[in-house]
Amino acid sequence: MTTNRTPAKIIPRAFPGIKPSEVEELIATSKVNTYPAGTILCRENAIETIFYMILEGEVEVTKLINQTEARVLKTLSAGDFFGEMALIHNAPRAATVTTKNDVVVLELEKESFDRVLQHSSSVAMAMVKEISERLRQNDEMAIEDLRMRASELAQAYQKLAEQDLTRRKFLTNVAHELRTPLMAASGYLQILQRGALQGNQLNEAIETVSRNVGQIVSLVNDILFLQEIELVLPDFQSVNMSEITQGIIKKYEKKAGERGIHLKVRNEQSAPSVNGDSRSLERALTALVDNAVKFSPHGGDIEINFEKQKDRLAVSVEDHGIGIATDQLSSIFDRFYHLEQSGDDLFGGIGIGLAITRQVIEQHHGKLSVESKPGKGSKFTMLLPLGNGI
Ligand code: CMP
Repeated sequence: MTTNRTPAKIIPRAFPGIKPSEVEELIATSKVNTYPAGTILCRENAIETIFYMILEGEVEVTKLINQTEARVLKTLSAGDFFGEMALIHNAPRAATVTTKNDVVVLELEKESFDRVLQHSSSVAMAMVKEISERLRQNDEMAIEDLRMRASELAQAYQKLAEQDLTRRKFLTNVAHELRTPLMAASGYLQILQRGALQGNQLNEAIETVSRNVGQIVSLVNDILFLQEIELVLPDFQSVNMSEITQGIIKKYEKKAGERGIHLKVRNEQSAPSVNGDSRSLERALTALVDNAVKFSPHGGDIEINFEKQKDRLAVSVEDHGIGIATDQLSSIFDRFYHLEQSGDDLFGGIGIGLAITRQVIEQHHGKLSVESKPGKGSKFTMLLPLGNGI
């Protein structure tokens, strides 16, 4: 041990003003011990009775914030002491103290410690100073933790409130979307019941009832699909996306044509098959086409493009419609989010389409991205893993 690391040199540094006789008493009643790195000298909450003063090396003081997380309070080195709080308060250890390297300590049992404390005002003063400093530090840490927890709670509450609002809006939207076709169907059914219709009129009425019931069924199916997709194991097979696209275009041709919208497909011949669940992929692409038609201006073009990218197929749907504001881009894939109004236009729907697409793409371990410029249009791209052997 170097001369300035001897107890006789270090004790007066820790307890300024201590009398030489008291230093001698301290040395006489204590013992010197050496511990390797990683030794726990004080264990938080344990009842232990030794007071330590560091002669050489360093220790780390840590405290548990919750069951699993520990926080480092301080590193102590030669001339510092620890383990006094439990002895003075007759309480369990307030923290854990672990050696960081080889540590030489002076150790005092509780009886010797009490005796020195009772007759040395210098030791008592140093203790009071140190303990009040440590308690203040522990209080600050507790307050800081409470602040953090409070702000985490506030954020979680805010998120819950937002989710609750979205859910309530969703229910209102669903009720609204169901009411229109239900009212139409029930109106026509009443007329049919009276038996007043014949010939063409009868056929048209039946057709209207059937179309409206179809709308209700498809809405309910979409909601159920989104609920079930996480529970049902998908049946992955080789899927031809260009065939699926043709089917969707056939379905939308009439609706788009009425508004002068052209649906164009590019590079479909070169599109390789993907590995996926064809029913889910059809729904995912349908939702993108449906949105593109809904948000396109009269006479707008919609392009569906295929591009092979390494081991994936990129399928993009691009429109030249109203586009999406940058601050809304992150929410559009959320369940039940939907754009209600843009300028003077009101848009129907319950905001479930993009949530379905996102869920399906996630299920396929693919990627869904969007590029959009307000007033210019949007482009949604799905990246899908290629099928086996292609
Ligand atoms: P004790 O509670 O007996 O055992 C753990 C020791 O860690 C404690 O005494 C103090 O010596 C020390 N300790 C507790 N809190 C702090 C703190 N905030 N800073 C430094 N040391 C501390």
